Formats: sequence, C-alpha cells, structure tokens
Amino acid sequence: MVILVKMASKQDNILAIAAKRGLFYPAAEIYGATAGFWTYGHLGTRVKQNWENLWRKTFLGLSPFYFEIDDANIMPSKVFESSGHLKNFNDPLTECGKCHFRFRADQIIEDATKTSVEGLDENALTKVIEDNKLVCPKCQGKLLPVRWFNMMFNVKVGATGENEMYLRPESAQSPYLAFKREFEAIRRKLPMGLAVIGKAFRNEIAPRQSFFRLREFTQAELQIFFDADLIDQCDDWKSVSKYMLYVKFSEENAIREVSCEDMNKKHSIPKFYAYHLAKVQQFYLDALGMPKEKFRFRELNEKERAFYNKIHFDVELDLETLGGFREVAGVHYRGDHDLKGHQEGSKEKLEVMTNEKRVLPHVLELSFGVDRNVWALMDAFYKEEPERVMFKFPGWVAPVEVAVFPLMNKEGIPKLSEKVYKSLSAEFKTFYDESGSVGRRYRRQDEVGTCYCVTVDFDSLQGKTVTIRDRDSMTQVRTKISALAKVLRKLLDKDIEFSQAGAKVESKKEGAA
Ligand code: GAP
Repeated sequence: MVILVKMASKQDNILAIAAKRGLFYPAAEIYGATAGFWTYGHLGTRVKQNWENLWRKTFLGLSPFYFEIDDANIMPSKVFESSGHLKNFNDPLTECGKCHFRFRADQIIEDATKTSVEGLDENALTKVIEDNKLVCPKCQGKLLPVRWFNMMFNVKVGATGENEMYLRPESAQSPYLAFKREFEAIRRKLPMGLAVIGKAFRNEIAPRQSFFRLREFTQAELQIFFDADLIDQCDDWKSVSKYMLYVKFSEENAIREVSCEDMNKKHSIPKFYAYHLAKVQQFYLDALGMPKEKFRFRELNEKERAFYNKIHFDVELDLETLGGFREVAGVHYRGDHDLKGHQEGSKEKLEVMTNEKRVLPHVLELSFGVDRNVWALMDAFYKEEPERVMFKFPGWVAPVEVAVFPLMNKEGIPKLSEKVYKSLSAEFKTFYDESGSVGRRYRRQDEVGTCYCVTVDFDSLQGKTVTIRDRDSMTQVRTKISALAKVLRKLLDKDIEFSQAGAKVESKKEGAA
C-alpha cells in the first residue's frame, strides 16, 4: 500500500499512487527525467483510452460527416509559416541577469502578485516586474527585460539535416492540410468535421503543475469546416435553445446561467457556436459526470485569446489539486485564418463548391487537452477514508472493472479462479491478483479505482458461487458463477443496486493493508 505522508498535498498523494500502481510517472525516470514529459503505465493508458473513446463517441456522433484522421507529427516549416506559428506562437520570457535561469515572465508575476497579466505585451510585462520589484526566485538577481520565446521544437530531417521541419504544436494543422482531399472523398458538402486524437509538442519555458503544462501532450480536437454565411443557422437548434450554459463572461467575475437562446440573442454568439457550447457542456456534465458547480465556460477577450481566434470560450474545471478553475479545453471560432493561410502558402486552391457557390470554409474548433482531462478525473474521483484511499471511478473510467482473486493457493481454488477470470476477461477490463492477503488485495484495487472484486473461495468449489465485493460500500454478496457476467454487466450499467446482485455476505472487517 502507498504510505501517505501526513500533510502531503492531495496532488502529491495522487502522484505517489499513480507512480506506484502503474498509472503514470515521469518519462525516462531512470535517467533523471526531464520536466514536461510523462509515461502512462499499464493502467493509466487504459484511463486515457477510456476518456478518448468517450470523446470519440460523443463528438464524432454529432454528425455522420464527422470523421477521425491520423497524421504525421513532424511537418515542414512552410506549414507553420502559413499558420502563423513561427511568428506568433510565443511565450514571454525573462532571464536572471546573475544566474541566467530563464522563467516565464507572466508566471513569475502572477505567482507574486496573484493577478492575471494575460494579454500584456513585453514592455508592459517588464514594467510590472520593475514596479513590483520582482527578482529572480532562485538567486534574487535582477530580472532582464521580457522578450518573446518561440515554443516550436525544430527537427533537422535527412542525412545531412537538409530539411528543417517542426513538431506540430497543435493537432489542428493536420485537418487543415487534409481538408481538400477529405472534402472530395467524403461527400463534397459542408459542414464537415475532421478530428485528430494525437500528440502536440511545445517547448514550454516552465513545465509545471504535473499534467498541466507539458512539453509533449495529447490533444483531442475536432475541426468543423462550415460555410460562414450559415454560422447563425443550426439544424438541431430546438434541442438546445432552452439549455442553460454556465458562463463567466470576460468583463464579469461571477458565473451566470445563460440559455443558448440568450447567448445568441443577447450576447451575439452565433447559433452554430452556441450549439457546440451546449454539446461540450453536456459532455462534461452528463457523459463524464462532473458536478455542475465545478464546470464553467470562461470567455476570453481580444487581448487574451490566441492570435487566430474570433470567438473563444475555454472550458474550466474547478480542481482542488490546482487551487481553483483551470483550463482543460476550448471552443474556438478560427474563421478562415487557417485555410486562407495554407491556400496562400501552398498556392493550392482550398475553396470548394457548396450550395452552388464557391467558399473558403470557416472553422469551428473543439479543442481538448487529453492529459489535463485525465488529471481532472484523478482530482475529481480521488477519495481519502480513515483506512484507505481510492479513486471512486465510474465503470467507464476505471482501468479495471473487475478483479478476480483466489482466496488461497490451495486445492482447486487457483484453477477455478483462472477459469472465472478467463470467462470475464473478454467482456470486462479485468485483473487477476493472487499475492498477499485478500485485505491487501482489496486496498490495492481501491487505489486504482477497481469497481468490483470477485473472490473464489472454498464454498466456490462445492456451491459454484463466488463473492463480489463493492468498492464504495465495502459490502459483499454471494452470486452463482453461471450468473456472474450478467450480474456484473447490470451493476456496471447501473441497472441494479449492489444489494440486488446476490445474497448478502456478513463480512468481517477488511484486513489492514
Ligand atoms: N488547436 C488549438 C489549441 O491548441 P490551446 O488552447 O493552445 O489551443 C488546447 O490548446 C488545449 O490543449 C488546452 O485547452 C489544454 O487542455 C491543452 N494544452 C495546451 N497546452 C498544453 C500543455 N503545455 N500541456 C498540457 N496540455 C496543454
């Protein structure tokens, strides 16, 4: 069991369990690890895939004309000249004049003053540093004037390094480059959506907050190409017009409940955009099961939003480990910035015929950081009780739905346990554990959020029954092996209560781990 150090923060406790149980840990750890790179272990990979699969089901399910593509991570420099990243994808950097350590200027300021400086230029940031007499946090040296630092990773490709290429800083560029081919291949109509779940790379000056500022991370992004003349139309508007969104507008501090209809009429948000805000919120509240008080959209004003966005609302979740609302996704109206840039840069016509006219499609982007969302799940479902810690994952998140234990390594118990395990493993995410006391095994499974533990004991040999132990209540029932798979399916689908899953077992207090 993970020994929780008294006074350790919730974040430290999650990281300790994650490393110990194979959820995630720093990449290349045995060589000292470099900040901003992580490995997902055997269980963490499952959690990440579970989130990605739900995302796919939700957003690709919005239209029969939304599809996923997969692309190269390394792209020619021309791509990023056209997209504007080589010129504009910069973070503010300040360097200590004495020890020459480099910092992100906005973070140093925000940590010290607790006020946001998003959107300020380099001169304004330098002035804030001087006005507040901020010095190097490492050696107290004087901080030099702020300058811009480009976050792109470049790669020399070819035997002589003749091709200067870049790792993509967002998955979004792939659908823009593939747009023309896919438009021809799919149905030659708009709207059309192209999604990518894939890696993005940013040379962050100061990676921190575990999964929140990574140098290599996964994005799940859907680029929806549409005719700009139809931005205020939406076939499915009726289904969302009365739906209430939780929004913090850029000029306000409080979160307001605003219907999609009011977003459109009173706040001039086009229907096509407001509809997708509703779908994103429903994903968080209904599909992921996030409590509504932990969710909000935050509007970004012109100074705050990315250089390519015309309308920008971030999704923020209130995360205890990170001390408040943090960005996990964004809904971006990118206009024709991308296709126009690539049309000019490549000299390939990217206009298409739709509704009997020639248009250069505009783009609505639903952009999610997968790692940040995985962290949000860990934050939301982590629970401490006097005798145990656990992740109270619902079945769809849990890396293990059912663990199977032989009570003892005696007589026919291991053989029957393996048979039970095999009969479940095709349908459920299963795990087999035969080491240590059953009490210890329960605790280990609690720590990775396993929903149910099935134990094969002496009664199983004669009576053909097993016990099922419920993670949340720690109570047990006894069920026939022949009915086990059906009962577990009903439990995971929430079709029955745990008390209906079999005959109640009067269990002793679970052994300490
Ligand atoms: N294609 C648009 C785009 O990339 P972004 O706001 O820069 O927009 C989208 O990134 C999402 O990717 C963010 O909401 C966040 O969840 C995630 N993300 C961005 N930078 C990240 C980083 N350094 N580490 C982890 N996740 C990051």
